[in-house]
Amino acid sequence: MIRLALRVRSEDAEVALAELLELAPSGVEEVSLPDGLVEYAVYGPPGELPALPSFEAAVGGALVSVSSSEVADDWAERWRDFHQPLLVGGRLYVRPPWSPAHPDALDLVIDPGQAFGTGAHATTALCLELLLEEPVPSDERAVVDLGCGSGVLGIAAAKLGWGPVLGLDFDPLSVTASAENADVNGVAMEVRRFDLRSEMAPAAPLVLANLLGPLLRSWCEQLVGASALPAVVIASGLLEREADELSARFGAVGLAESARRVQGDWAALRLVRTQVG
Ligand SMILES: C[S@@+](CC[C@H](N)C(=O)[O-])C[C@H]1O[C@@H](n2cnc3c(N)ncnc32)[C@H](O)[C@@H]1O
Repeated sequence: MIRLALRVRSEDAEVALAELLELAPSGVEEVSLPDGLVEYAVYGPPGELPALPSFEAAVGGALVSVSSSEVADDWAERWRDFHQPLLVGGRLYVRPPWSPAHPDALDLVIDPGQAFGTGAHATTALCLELLLEEPVPSDERAVVDLGCGSGVLGIAAAKLGWGPVLGLDFDPLSVTASAENADVNGVAMEVRRFDLRSEMAPAAPLVLANLLGPLLRSWCEQLVGASALPAVVIASGLLEREADELSARFGAVGLAESARRVQGDWAALRLVRTQVG
């Protein structure tokens, strides 16, 4: 097993992560380093990892260094170390299948398989925190999980009483992982393959969108003049320094910021519809 590691400056983290997820959707390990650097690592057998030149071409100017190392027989343990359970808001416990359930928290089992979303990445954890604070309305409960990855956000929503839940992702591995995770958790979630760059995202009372900055910007462009807007959006995957700019873009299409959460360099926004759409 090979570990391929890229170091970038934290200000380039989002660009690098977006490109890496396209090349290696099988999950990316993120390690904060001193001196404002972030290391991203992907794992795979020799021959199944993207070639170094494709990484360098994709991440381009953001790259500080790239290295590869052999991971001996501790691959399985290493992956298990990386995928740790997470207690969110004191009441939602996101855990891998090999960890025991929490005695007092709502249980959410996530095996990300080849998709992004153990729950532990700051972008996901921030969404989950905001989701937990969202009151579940008695009538309009439909949710869209835009860029659902492992399905962690949509499944959490279903467990909290939202539904129907629709998960959308352009990566077929994410579609499979989300459907399997929904089954394991005993919740109903329709999952479809969908490309936000060429298709219009459906509006729902609640849209969960952990998409990274560039895709959030494309979505904003789609929303200009849209016939219907979501009542509430929880948007994540943006860097803190981009939060004002993205908030203004969403504000201009009729989705005003009502809350902001920050963890490390990452931020998430809660946006509410200001016009009847
Ligand atoms: C940052 S991950 C979030 C995954 C999961 N929702 C979570 O919170 O952990 C972003 C997801 O967006 C998906 N994605 C990227 N580009 C997309 C596109 N053009 N259309 C739909 N989904 C896309 C990726 O495959 C990935 O699963």
